[in-house]
Amino acid sequence: MIKIGLLGFGTVGTGVYEIINNTENNLRILLNKEIEVSKILVSDINKKRNVVVSKDILTQDPLDILENPEIDIVVEVMGGIDKAYEYMCLAFKNNKHVVTANKAVVSKYIDKLLDLANKYDRGFLFEASVGGGIPIIKPLKQSARINNISNVRGILNGTTNFILTKMCDENLSFDEALNIAQELGYAEADPTDDIEGYDVKRKLAILSSIAFNNKTDVDSIMCRGISSINKVDIKMFKKLGLVSKLVGSAVSNDNNYSASVEPILLNENSTFTTVKDAFNIVSITGNVIGELQFYGQGAGKNPTANAVVSDIFDIVTGQYKRDDFVQNGKLISADIDLFKGR
Ligand code: NAP
Ligand code: HSE
Repeated sequence: MIKIGLLGFGTVGTGVYEIINNTENNLRILLNKEIEVSKILVSDINKKRNVVVSKDILTQDPLDILENPEIDIVVEVMGGIDKAYEYMCLAFKNNKHVVTANKAVVSKYIDKLLDLANKYDRGFLFEASVGGGIPIIKPLKQSARINNISNVRGILNGTTNFILTKMCDENLSFDEALNIAQELGYAEADPTDDIEGYDVKRKLAILSSIAFNNKTDVDSIMCRGISSINKVDIKMFKKLGLVSKLVGSAVSNDNNYSASVEPILLNENSTFTTVKDAFNIVSITGNVIGELQFYGQGAGKNPTANAVVSDIFDIVTGQYKRDDFVQNGKLISADIDLFKGR
């Protein structure tokens, strides 16, 4: 029996819980193991919730999960930086594998977390931290092993793409579109992170750290969001046959790196223009593979939870790889079936 401890039971956490408890999916058959969510950390145990769970499973004490010898995998989907980082570190120290959707923590501490995973010989996967449901971290790691990646570029935030789409196609105001994005569970707890481009900056830092095998400092990325774009601007762009998109772009040139996040104007025929609502697109270019594009739902409960559960699957089956940025920048990988015989 594989036991999961969830840190957080909001949009993503409930999605993960539902997938694991959905008896119609093939998860148990494919894993050939029983799997359950044994404990869930929340900030308010008495809060009214859409998903029915036994009160015994919920806890407000993180140690019920982090120091619980029965828990195999800790899934961090609570958000924030300091507490989330503290809990992930403690999870590794207690020999747990860690899966997270938290780009704020991964972008800031990717080297330290990979180092800890390596030290304690555990898996650390974060597919859901970039691009929601799009599998991008795993293919990027694979591409970066063979290719010199020269650039990574994308529409990496569902909320802002949703806002820009609704302002352009349905003439909604910025605030009307943001309210809907929040209701649909796309936005961060503080939507300033989405609107000002900080969320894209974090995702871009993760992608470029992997693509260029060199930790990218989030604060070194030039960043401008979409808060100053209004209905009049959108109307004028439309008249000119142009569409505004918030794009993150990282480029490597002879071991010099540059990265930026900013709204850009595209013509109506550009591939990025066709990416609407909360969909994301990521384009990577490698010297062997050429350009690859990844497209899909970039935010929301089910797509994001799907990415989290895929990581859980890779950990349980031993299909995960650890990429160590600490030892001379060389990628180190290991496949270990830690669940043999269970
Ligand atoms: P959310 O709906 O706000 O849920 C957060 C959950 O964590 C809630 O259950 C909350 O408890 C719990 N929590 C927060 N701080 C806590 C603390 N200090 N101690 C204990 N429990 C705490 O957030 P979300 O949208 O699911 O996002 C979770 C993470 O996934 C974030 O890092 C986000 O960036 C990332 N992510 C989200 C999406 C998306 O589309 N939403 C997509 C990709 C990645 P209560 O329920 O008691 O309030
Ligand atoms: N707030 C994020 C977005 C969630 O809108 O893209 C997915 O990372």
